[in-house]
Amino acid sequence: MLTLHFSEFSLEHFLAHYWQQKPVVIRQGFHHFADLISPDELAGLACEEAVESRLVYKKDQQWQAEVGPFESYEHLGEQDWTLIVQAVNHWSPSVAQLVEPFSFIPKWRLDDVMISYSTPGGGVGPHIDLYDVFICQGSGRRRWRVGDQGEHRQFAAHAALLHTDPFEPIIDVELLPGDILYIPPGFPHDGISLEESMSFSVGFRSKSARDMLSGLADYLIDNELGNALISDPQRPLHRHHGQINGSDFAMIKAQLQAVLDQDEVIADFAGSFLSRTKCQLDLQVLEEPYAEDELVDALIQQPLTRIGGLRCFYVDQTVAQGVCYIDGERYQFGAGCVEAVLALCDQESLSASALQAGLQQPAFISALTRWVNAGFWYFAD
Ligand code: SIN
Ligand code: CO
Repeated sequence: MLTLHFSEFSLEHFLAHYWQQKPVVIRQGFHHFADLISPDELAGLACEEAVESRLVYKKDQQWQAEVGPFESYEHLGEQDWTLIVQAVNHWSPSVAQLVEPFSFIPKWRLDDVMISYSTPGGGVGPHIDLYDVFICQGSGRRRWRVGDQGEHRQFAAHAALLHTDPFEPIIDVELLPGDILYIPPGFPHDGISLEESMSFSVGFRSKSARDMLSGLADYLIDNELGNALISDPQRPLHRHHGQINGSDFAMIKAQLQAVLDQDEVIADFAGSFLSRTKCQLDLQVLEEPYAEDELVDALIQQPLTRIGGLRCFYVDQTVAQGVCYIDGERYQFGAGCVEAVLALCDQESLSASALQAGLQQPAFISALTRWVNAGFWYFAD
């Protein structure tokens, strides 16, 4: 298991002073850190249709970006190029392990683990991200420069590369294996590989109100909610035909607010919306599905492992009824299953004892069997 070391400050200090506020270098955040996947394996993944990848390099001083899947890397030479593979935690159980050390931030904020392999001189150019990222240096050395927040012009250096103008660095460091660079959204940065190197970036996302409201509208439609029309009996005499006056505006806002004030509706929407994955999952589908009693017997012998990238949440408002959200779907198992629901969502590995309360309930056993047969959890050996 990977352990994160904050030698110069505590996690509480990091959250109070750096998270979402300013970038920081965490020297030797991981002791004896070794690549969690080899460059060859990464290059192989980027050849697969289901995996999102990009190659970034310069040709005649012009930035170039190609989108995978790739067939070969031979044309690229020995330097000045980078291969980026998104959501590798979905495809590699060893890379998925890199998520747990960052569990001091809730999983609903996690985006993915992106890995880049760079040859000497390679990099994606100066840019600004909308996400928080912990860039964990694997093999090799990379020089990172990070500028301050502020007005930075952004422009398309290539149709697929949004760059920013050169910036004055507030951090200028060489990262060595095991070092971590944390960068909050909005800080321009630029990493250039000093030799062949691997970077493992654990990224966190949040949603805009626009995305949330658009998701909420879909949720209301799917669940036939929010149908009540504005009703205005006892309306006072209206004098200006074209006007939406102050009290009418208040009534329109109140109609929308009434939807947001229904905690159960918003909890349910948030749980299902945030538990959907952005990238494809590597489902461990079984050829021979388990019968329910076989599954319980197998679970007594060994724990189940959750596939990387599967998102499982509960919400404080509804968890007392045993409600949880797995990959966008809502499940309700009742008050007797709360402990099992907490284990499902909080733990990457599930033992029979952690699920004990759920294993007394036929509905829970049946759902667990369906999840395992669909490939959401698997027996590692
Ligand atoms: C990289 O790892 O090369 C790019 C990561 C980033 O700056 O977002
Ligand atoms: Co970046």
